[in-house]
Amino acid sequence: MEPKKGLRDVPAGQTRLCLLDEANSELYYCGYSIRDLVEHYPYEAVAYLMLHGELPSESELKIFTRRLVNNAWNMPQVVVKSLELKTPFTDAHPMDKLSLIIRADGNTHGIPFSTPSLENNLDLAKSLIARLPLMVALLGGASRNYFDYFDPDRTLMENFVDSLRIPNEGGLATKLMNVAFILYAEHEFNAGSFAVRVAASAHTDIYSAVLGGLGTLRGTRHGGANEEVMKKMLEIGTPEKTREYCDRFLSQPGARLPGFGHAVYTIGDPRVAVLRPLVKDLSVRKNDMRWYEIAVALEEYMAERSRGKSKPLPANTDLWTAPLYHLLGIPIRLFTPLFAASRVSGWCGHYLEVRHVYNEPILRPRAEYVGSAPRKVIPHS
Ligand SMILES: CC(C)(COP(=O)(O)OP(=O)(O)OC[C@H]1O[C@@H](n2cnc3c(N)ncnc32)[C@H](O)[C@@H]1OP(=O)(O)O)[C@@H](O)C(=O)NCCC(=O)NCCS
Repeated sequence: MEPKKGLRDVPAGQTRLCLLDEANSELYYCGYSIRDLVEHYPYEAVAYLMLHGELPSESELKIFTRRLVNNAWNMPQVVVKSLELKTPFTDAHPMDKLSLIIRADGNTHGIPFSTPSLENNLDLAKSLIARLPLMVALLGGASRNYFDYFDPDRTLMENFVDSLRIPNEGGLATKLMNVAFILYAEHEFNAGSFAVRVAASAHTDIYSAVLGGLGTLRGTRHGGANEEVMKKMLEIGTPEKTREYCDRFLSQPGARLPGFGHAVYTIGDPRVAVLRPLVKDLSVRKNDMRWYEIAVALEEYMAERSRGKSKPLPANTDLWTAPLYHLLGIPIRLFTPLFAASRVSGWCGHYLEVRHVYNEPILRPRAEYVGSAPRKVIPHS
């Protein structure tokens, strides 16, 4: 029994949430193209889609959105206060702080975790989807007094962008954040979502499963890549220096340029085609083309470098969310937490699917044993 490295192309379960059509560079959530979703729907509708498998009607969306906003607004003060704990917590990466406050929040729910019904889990999922963005805003320190800005008549995204206290002329930041949230919401059996499924199959609670996804996402091969992309772009500094920088960086053994490569896509990541023109427009508006031009220069460099190689290395989403967030004025350390705040809707969808749709058996693969043959213990004299 020889394992497949990285479990590439091994079907490890069924899902109705997401279809990666890598041959045509298309991505669908529950049958809807991401291009249509970003054009016609708010993130809240996509979050609903992840939980229910169908898009909401207008009235269902209104009720769902109001519910999310109330859920966020009602985040217990004890959770908010846990952010004020002093060192060593103060210096921790926001991803670490996020995991602590998610756990603190989970503990405030009076719902028994051991035998939750679908209704219980849906309630908890709505709370997670509503509160993670707010937790990220609080981690940014921008709106410790977030209650002052909260408006129950606005959407979750509108309230969230306000609480980040970033420029939002004409609602542009809200529109772009909505797109980024939709594009990051779900992506089939990626490492983080698969971690959630494994945890769900062991019948742990939804908070513990989400924390499994969160810990996996922060890896630099996964969600942590968006932060790494921006750090590299800042080091590169100007588009003209891209080639020299990459030549040097990639000459190191095992070096991987963040924002490039993918376990599934070889032709192109469909989310990039949506993001690239938006980043270009935003750069024009902000009169700052530097990050857009560096991203394009990186794409050209990597295309040239992988020409003739067996595995092309197209850009992935993180190459383009990094300059998007940066141009919006979001601190780099919040990039990966923001990814988590968007992906939590997909994680909840996976959790519900494993437990309540397919009632999957515990996920328990086998290993190819390559250790020592059975041998005798020699006791210490
Ligand atoms: C995403 C990723 C983990 C996928 O890995 P993978 O498909 O298993 O690919 P491997 O790491 O096995 O690499 C296969 C080949 O492509 C090269 N490669 C893959 N990603 C690369 C990158 N980002 N930069 C440079 N070379 C890369 C490897 O050097 C290797 O070349 P070789 O066969 O000549 O040794 C990997 O591309 C990566 O680490 N990317 C950077 C981090 C990132 O952007 N993550 C976000 C993913 S959405």
